[in-house]
Amino acid sequence: MNQEFELKSVIRSVPDFPKPGIMFRDITPLLANHEAFRETIRRFTEHFKDSKITKIMAAEARGFIFAAPLALELNASFIPVRKPNKLPFDTQAFHYELEYGTDTLEMHIDAVEEGDRVLLIDDLLATGGTIQACAKLAEQAGAVVAGCGFLIELDFLNGRRHLEGYDICSLINYGDENP
Ligand code: PRP
Ligand code: MG
Repeated sequence: MNQEFELKSVIRSVPDFPKPGIMFRDITPLLANHEAFRETIRRFTEHFKDSKITKIMAAEARGFIFAAPLALELNASFIPVRKPNKLPFDTQAFHYELEYGTDTLEMHIDAVEEGDRVLLIDDLLATGGTIQACAKLAEQAGAVVAGCGFLIELDFLNGRRHLEGYDICSLINYGDENP
């Protein structure tokens, strides 16, 4: 596999999931293809290798899949960000708005500290709520957000507007809701 490989070719588009009118971008064919999975991690590594990353934060569940192997490649710590009441030690929480209602993400209070240069990783940038919550958790702890990496970015939802000033690396873009 090389730089020319079209990662989009191993993303499956599933119409009307989880509800009518939504085109779901399914990453499982990419994960099932070890060459494509490896190429994904290679491209993130290439982008962030000189960013002096000390820690990689990712929200469960899908963010973990890419953050863990990338942490090994970049010699960085892996910091899990979890849904409420999953982490056993003292936590710091961030509450954020969804289209309907609110959501919360948590991390351990000693996970990130001043001086850390944190890379935020997720499979998908959609509205940006999830990654913005991760950024706030990192910054509340005194760390610098040194970058954000996404396998897929849905351009039409403009999640980037929440990430101004950050170094963003998206490997696949969809400019439209349809294939
Ligand atoms: C999905 C996806 C991203 C997030 C992107 O996670 O994995 O984390 O949505 O959407 P946003 O930019 O609008 O926040 P989801 O909460 O569905 O859960 P999962 O990762 O546990 O499947
Ligand atoms: Mg997720």
